Amino acid sequence: MAIDDLRREYLLTKLQRSDLADNPIDQFQLWLQQAIDFDLNDPTAMVLGTVDENHSPSQRIVLLKDLSDKGFVFYTNSQSQKAQQIAQNPNVSLHFPWHKMERQVSIKGVAEKLGIKETLAYFAKRPRESQIAAWASQQSRPIKSRELLLQQFEKMKAKFAQGEVPLPDFWSGYRVKPSSIEFWQGGAHRLHDRFLYTATDNGWNIERLMP
Ligand SMILES: Cc1cc2nc3c(=O)[nH]c(=O)nc-3n(C[C@H](O)[C@H](O)[C@H](O)COP(=O)(O)O)c2cc1C
Repeated sequence: MAIDDLRREYLLTKLQRSDLADNPIDQFQLWLQQAIDFDLNDPTAMVLGTVDENHSPSQRIVLLKDLSDKGFVFYTNSQSQKAQQIAQNPNVSLHFPWHKMERQVSIKGVAEKLGIKETLAYFAKRPRESQIAAWASQQSRPIKSRELLLQQFEKMKAKFAQGEVPLPDFWSGYRVKPSSIEFWQGGAHRLHDRFLYTATDNGWNIERLMP
């Protein structure tokens, strides 16, 4: 298969300056709702980019679980690779690849750990098996086999057989406070529409970028 022959035009719609909300969170809420209504798979899935102490980047998908003017929230193991990198350097990127809508949203910002109260409020809402799985996995560490992981899961299931599953002290929410948010809409002949919101002392600056 000649992958360099795979191409399509992006003709779904256009994005104009007059379409945009003054605040990028309002604009994002609108696009997210449209992504949900469009029946995208995992519309809240976002690629989180972090860097290690040698500035070497890594990326992985996490799920957006809350959104407000304060930022974009996800949950993870706070001893994982991503969490260790955030502890060393809180500058991160988020990327929403909404291909089917010929859209992407790219965010830069600073991640901070949520408090226990907020984390617990979300943890308590997770299915019991997911709560137990959080206990069973030392995320990002090597393990010899899937069987060992399942044994660990069964062990935790037995340990927490009675009552509520407690919040692991190695599990936390993170909020990314955005410093810039770019909205991208595919356009004909690769002349895409791009608008970049940049945080300033008194609000948001908006500029169109060349594709
Ligand atoms: C659709 C999807 C959603 C995911 N959501 C999460 C999530 O919300 N939190 C999480 O810790 N990992 C999530 N993962 C797994 C991560 O991509 C990743 O493998 C894991 O967090 C370990 O990353 P790290 O070793 O870089 O820290 C998800 C993966 C996929 C494909």
